[in-house]
Amino acid sequence: MKLQTLSVLLAVAAANASKINHLHLKRQTTSSTATSATVAASSISSSTGSSAVSASATGTSTGTSTGTATGSTTSAAVPASATWGTSFPPLSQISSGMPSEVTQAVTTTYSPGATPTYFSGASPLPSAFVFVAADWPAQDKIPDTSSSEVQEWLKELDGWDIPDLSPTVDGTCVSDPANAANASARGWWTCGGWTRDTDITVCPGKPMTWGTSFDDGPAFYTTKLLHFLSEKAIKATFFDVGSRCIENPNVLRDEYMSGHEIAVHTWSHPHLTTLTNAQIVAELGWTRKAIKTIIGATPTTMRPPYGDIDDRVRAISLAMGMIPIIWTRTPSGVSFDTFDWEIPGGVVTSEASFSQFEGILGNASTLDDGFIVLEHDLYEQTVDMAIGYTLPAAMSHNPPFTLEPIGQCNGIPYTNMYVESNLNASFPVLNGTSDGGIDTDGDGSGDAKSKNGTSSAASSSNGASPQHITYTLYATLSLATLAAFVAIL
Ligand SMILES: *[C@@H]1O[C@H](CO)[C@@H](O)[C@H](O)[C@H]1NC(C)=O
Ligand SMILES: *[C@@H]1O[C@H](CO)[C@@H](O)[C@H](O)[C@H]1NC(C)=O
Ligand SMILES: *[C@@H]1O[C@H](CO)[C@@H](O)[C@H](O)[C@H]1NC(C)=O
Ligand SMILES: *[C@@H]1O[C@H](CO)[C@@H](O)[C@H](O)[C@H]1NC(C)=O
Ligand SMILES: *[C@@H]1O[C@H](CO)[C@@H](O)[C@H](O)[C@H]1NC(C)=O
Repeated sequence: MKLQTLSVLLAVAAANASKINHLHLKRQTTSSTATSATVAASSISSSTGSSAVSASATGTSTGTSTGTATGSTTSAAVPASATWGTSFPPLSQISSGMPSEVTQAVTTTYSPGATPTYFSGASPLPSAFVFVAADWPAQDKIPDTSSSEVQEWLKELDGWDIPDLSPTVDGTCVSDPANAANASARGWWTCGGWTRDTDITVCPGKPMTWGTSFDDGPAFYTTKLLHFLSEKAIKATFFDVGSRCIENPNVLRDEYMSGHEIAVHTWSHPHLTTLTNAQIVAELGWTRKAIKTIIGATPTTMRPPYGDIDDRVRAISLAMGMIPIIWTRTPSGVSFDTFDWEIPGGVVTSEASFSQFEGILGNASTLDDGFIVLEHDLYEQTVDMAIGYTLPAAMSHNPPFTLEPIGQCNGIPYTNMYVESNLNASFPVLNGTSDGGIDTDGDGSGDAKSKNGTSSAASSSNGASPQHITYTLYATLSLATLAAFVAIL
């Protein structure tokens, strides 16, 4: 038995014994090594950039206003040929006013029938995607819930006890003081970082490992990022938006064929806690369908936009076969959000965003677990931040960080990242056992019934021996089982 597994077993045993974990609720924290030395984030050395301009870029003063910049500085960094892929401007020039790159990186186009070779059982690519407007909801709008598709997907909630929580006002704490005050009871991540055991928020037991991911694509600049990742042999997880998938199907196919993990990030990027159950089903269902239609595989993981999840959203996502993945928060409440998404709008400067990232690396260096960061591939600015600054900083850090997709760093094989190749009946959630099920509302008993209709709530309603699923084990552990394990050791 692996040491890590043992420590998890012991931790769960201890929690059971002292009954401190019976609520299954925790504020998102990550164990940290209190005495770890603080390692200052490394400066970016010009050798880490692949760009011809990186040498001059690094010396550029950070105070330069770029609001009125002409195309000259940036275009100088971009070769005229369409074969460029990984050049980036000086940090100070990454801003809301930066000139757009005019050439587009070449997306590798894969033929129908092409099959990923990096895991067995992978579905081959379907025929080339042809967009037919009538087949899809309007882009970037919450899909209509009366469609036959959504009505069909709603049946996936049958047999699950979806917590009866009223939608939040707008997904923010400030607009919703009543729900914010009750955030721990509803497991609302947004207001205080509340999570459940089923959420993935770290890379358990893998210090100095960055579970790397990008949100909101596939988009125009994603291809530039893919070129960089390929050049550096980095694999990542892409949380894709359905509305973007049908726009950029070949970019999505490139992500998948290149060995990156594909996950659901909703159709229109709403705050999911504000929606009705049916709307949440529609947001997840249409995105899942878009991805399946384009790459032939159905994701088993998702990320709620803005991290806005509570027990209702969580239960719906799990009932639909998708495990929620958020990003790391430290014990002291530092959220690993780079705020790169606020650079295009001019709310945050590139310098501030990068400084935030250096703080993230500093904090990450003290953690016993690996970590997950919020970054985006939607905008030119966010892609340039990633390929020019954040990814190189992690790679050149001393000691360096290991970069892995989030599934990998959680011990989830590629096969389990997709319904079609997943052969494990216990993944993504347990079902089919008489007492299986998961506690999504934190009352200590398994709310979710098995998919074949076996109720789990009744069998564990006393809460004395709740069924635990941890993100590490995804296994039910009774005290007796634990005692047996511990006795063996
Ligand atoms: C707080 O949340 C719990 C669980 O969702 C719910 O039962 C309770 O009614 C809520 N309390 C208030 C005051 O909203
Ligand atoms: C952790 O992050 C906070 C907030 O960004 C920052 O102030 C602090 O310096 C960081 N800690 C380390 C060790 O880098
Ligand atoms: C559900 O599945 C379990 C395990 O396979 C089985 O024992 C049980 O009889 C099933 N229940 C129903 C209602 O089919
Ligand atoms: C779990 O549920 C899935 C989907 O409903 C079903 O295909 C599978 O057979 C179930 N597993 C068990 C062990 O009942
Ligand atoms: C099935 O998945 C569970 C949860 O991730 C894992 O604990 C178990 O080892 C897996 N079983 C196999 C045979 O891979």
